[in-house]
Amino acid sequence: MFPELTRDDVFRLETRRLWLRWPRAADVGAFVDLASDPSVALWTAHIPHPYTREAAEAFVLRARASNGEGLTLALALALRGRPQEAIGGLELTPDGAGSARLGYWLGQPFRKQGYMAEAIEALVSMVYGLTEIAAIEAEVRPDNAASLGVLDGLGFREAGRRIVEAPARGTSYDCLVLRLEKRAFVGAAAARTPGPAARPLPSMSQQRREDPRMTRALALAADQ
Ligand SMILES: CC(C)(COP(=O)(O)OP(=O)(O)OC[C@H]1O[C@@H](n2cnc3c(N)ncnc32)[C@H](O)[C@@H]1OP(=O)(O)O)[C@@H](O)C(=O)NCCC(=O)NCCS
Repeated sequence: MFPELTRDDVFRLETRRLWLRWPRAADVGAFVDLASDPSVALWTAHIPHPYTREAAEAFVLRARASNGEGLTLALALALRGRPQEAIGGLELTPDGAGSARLGYWLGQPFRKQGYMAEAIEALVSMVYGLTEIAAIEAEVRPDNAASLGVLDGLGFREAGRRIVEAPARGTSYDCLVLRLEKRAFVGAAAARTPGPAARPLPSMSQQRREDPRMTRALALAADQ
């Protein structure tokens, strides 16, 4: 379960270049435009293709209800300068046993600029700072080089294989399981922080001050 902080739609994460915020009805058009591209849907288990307006509306309603109950954290991605225009999405679903499953996609025009790596790093940082989740996993097809590249750069490591049902594809896939443990993520963050070896792990607020890629704000705001 996610904490009270993420269960309200004023919640957002800010990174150097992005906002991660709750999806809204106003995102439906952008979701349809971007996720209709087969290069998005066909790599995922749950995004139908073709992707209709009805499907996007249903996603937004489900995501908001589920976020509100703390069962998932589904966030739309937007550029900081254009926070109203969604460019992709991420979703984290806890399994109730200490792990959570991560899914994500980005519109084709916005790829290969490090956006998804930046977004996932912020999300993972928040989750490991504020929740009891101890490991995050992504299920990735072995031929999805882009997804594997993103996860590898963030320290996710292969932890086996799993047959994953892909209802939107009408099949199942033999996927790699990529896993990032909290202790590995926190250890790597501490190692990046200059200072004496015995220095205690930085608090979330210290991390945010010291690492510009860390989440700059966890929640907020009357200005949405
Ligand atoms: C996977 C996806 C989200 C990547 O988003 P992105 O913002 O382009 O990724 P980033 O720019 O943050 O890439 C981070 C790293 O991943 C690697 N990478 C990204 N795209 C790659 C590609 N097409 N081929 C190989 N490696 C790639 C690179 O190593 C990059 O590191 P670099 O900055 O040193 O070059 C995007 O390609 C996508 O939406 N794909 C379709 C949906 C999907 O596959 N979802 C995941 C299902 S498991």
